[in-house]
Amino acid sequence: MDSSLPLVLDRTGSGPLHLQLAEQFRAAIRDGRLQAGHRLPSTRDLAKELVVSRSVAQAAYDQLHAEGWIAGRTGSGTYVADVVPLQPVLRSPARAPEPAGKQLLTLRPGIPYVSTTVDAGWRRAWREVSIQPPARGYDHPAGLPALRAAVAEHVGRVRGIACGPENVLITDGTSHGLRLLLSVTRQAGDRIAMEDPGFVTAVTAARQHGLQVVDIPVDEDGLLVSELGPDLSAVYVTPSHQYPLGGRLPVARRNELIRWARRTGATLIEDDYDSEFRYDVAPLPALAQLDLDRVVHLGTLSKVLSPALRLGWLVASPEVVNRLAAYREEVGDWPGWPMQAAFLAMLRDGYLDQVIRRSRHLYAERRNHTCAVLAPYGQIVGQDAGLHITLLLPNTDDGAVAARARAAGVAVAPLSEYRRSTPGPPGLVIGYATPTDEDLLKALDVLVEVLRP
Ligand SMILES: Cc1ncc(COP(=O)(O)O)c(C=O)c1O
Repeated sequence: MDSSLPLVLDRTGSGPLHLQLAEQFRAAIRDGRLQAGHRLPSTRDLAKELVVSRSVAQAAYDQLHAEGWIAGRTGSGTYVADVVPLQPVLRSPARAPEPAGKQLLTLRPGIPYVSTTVDAGWRRAWREVSIQPPARGYDHPAGLPALRAAVAEHVGRVRGIACGPENVLITDGTSHGLRLLLSVTRQAGDRIAMEDPGFVTAVTAARQHGLQVVDIPVDEDGLLVSELGPDLSAVYVTPSHQYPLGGRLPVARRNELIRWARRTGATLIEDDYDSEFRYDVAPLPALAQLDLDRVVHLGTLSKVLSPALRLGWLVASPEVVNRLAAYREEVGDWPGWPMQAAFLAMLRDGYLDQVIRRSRHLYAERRNHTCAVLAPYGQIVGQDAGLHITLLLPNTDDGAVAARARAAGVAVAPLSEYRRSTPGPPGLVIGYATPTDEDLLKALDVLVEVLRP
């Protein structure tokens, strides 16, 4: 019996013959040329007719059988099945990414310098992880116990926070810790005070949780504590380096803030994102050091190693930590074991301290250079710490300046991006950490051209 179909096989390399054959049968069944019950040739006859090996015909039939297009048993022939299978929905392929245009040099703030090579400390930590099996079940939702203890020791030593493992919860970074805290401890409609200008991601998180964001002005020292009004359930604050203006909250204001929180019962959320880096100024301990019953402290690896690691920590009272851990257990959302285990090795071996020391030297030089180059064009603020400075440019359209810089090949953030309702001078927020030394020099040259009157 012949197949009564014009079957054509392309032997010049357009895919395996059995798949070509199967697709031609499928097409014929789909468009009705082969009807349910139609008897198909045996594999032997089909192979002969097409001059292919029998295994090709057999493989095509096996495939059609498995997909439900044909039926039949050995000996009694093969028929077109009377139940035509559902067609899978064909999705158009995802759009190819835009072709990369001219690469922008970036002076946007927030990302540390990450070398293209790895060093011995990094390799040691990951080697250690690679030779251990994972836990047999779920790890503790607050984080690996040994890592919680190591982080407690770390924040005690470098941030002056006297605490133990029961105060520590390992997070996927600041943003994750903040969202977790808001979802468990705040109610929609609660009022949260946030610095203005401030960290846009944190404001977005608060709004998405249904909180009412109350804008609080900042000055060159940071949050204006005297502006905190009544009925606030929480305050989000960056005391070690106000983001983005760079103020370092003085001791008197910290004490005033803690006294205010004790009086009102509000929670202070301390975002300690880049406190590892300060230059020629005395260290200020974390706000959390003053009162762990009132302050929830958020730390991150994003500025020290890389934001791609998605790892951070939250330090709070054991009650808050336990509530957050219980919630995480319900939703099954906490950082994976390999990253936690590697971070533990990095802390224990002193690798983190080593990277911080090394980066501090690098960033100090870059900060000096950046300030020296840009000083003639505006007022520099926030240069004592962190990975960025802010260049105030009164009476300028900072969005237009950033657009001109972009057109000239440099990405930089206009200060107006961070402002909400509190008026203040325009400017540029300039991160000096991300590029290579060479690219930083080039990018600053471009920026000077853009800023030149
Ligand atoms: C003010 C501030 N906090 C925290 C972070 C880090 O967030 P995460 O730890 O989620 O990467 C950043 C990063 O840009 C930041 O600017």
